Amino acid sequence: MPLTITPLSNVLAAEATGVDLREPLDDATAEALNHAFNSHAVLCIRDQHLDPGQYVAAASLFGEPVQQVNRYSRFPEFPEIGILTGDTRDSRGERIINGATWHTDHSFTKQPPLGTILYAVVIPDKGGATSFCDMRAAYQALDDDMKRRVDGLKAVHAYESSRSPRRMAPRTEEEVAETPDVVHPLVRKHPRTGDPALYMSTTRLDHIVDLDREDSNALVDTLLAHATQPEFIYDHEWRVGDMLIWDNRCTMHHANGNYPIEEKRLMHRIMIEGEIPV
Ligand code: OGA
Ligand code: MN
Repeated sequence: MPLTITPLSNVLAAEATGVDLREPLDDATAEALNHAFNSHAVLCIRDQHLDPGQYVAAASLFGEPVQQVNRYSRFPEFPEIGILTGDTRDSRGERIINGATWHTDHSFTKQPPLGTILYAVVIPDKGGATSFCDMRAAYQALDDDMKRRVDGLKAVHAYESSRSPRRMAPRTEEEVAETPDVVHPLVRKHPRTGDPALYMSTTRLDHIVDLDREDSNALVDTLLAHATQPEFIYDHEWRVGDMLIWDNRCTMHHANGNYPIEEKRLMHRIMIEGEIPV
């Protein structure tokens, strides 16, 4: 079966069929998949059957897998693979959903991963989609005055930002010292396509450099509301065997916890090393 790339929405995301990532890939196929990833920003490769070793090898198609940070939910023999379940509960017995608000992964680090990959092992019957928004399209749709206003601005990203709706688990002084705040451009240029995109996160973006808190919050709120309008969004309904990579440089995403409490969801997660945003 030949490799086929088909868009999944009018804005971002495409699916790839006709490829089995257990087999060695020829250069043309590897290039076609990377090209589809760079142009569609979300690429879902359907119908895969990957054990952890095959998954790491398949992920390497897009770059260098990095170690997952949470050392308690990784495969011991494959520290690049994080195990993402919907099994953790709060004190009231409600499911804890990580990444429930719009974000891009690890923007609190100096060199955030260029992409994150989820491989769907178990999915609920209904619900549990992942939502994506296109920060290139959102930037392009700003009026000229706003584009001029945001071009060249910088933003401080923090492990636990003051704006975050989510409270993180308590950390030791040593752990806090490991994650100093970082500064990233508010509009970053995609290193492969050259496209400008807003670079933001509801959980990590703390404030815009050189603006007072009130002006900064107002601008960030306006831009986030703009970027997360329905016309920029694609909701991915998972199928078992999907290996989906998203581009952290030009999209935001969030998880949806809207599936029955007794249902399981299991993803194997890999992040791909990225560049310093410019
Ligand atoms: C992530 C994430 C969303 C989901 O793994 O970084 O945000 O739907 N996941 O599980
Ligand atoms: Mn995430």
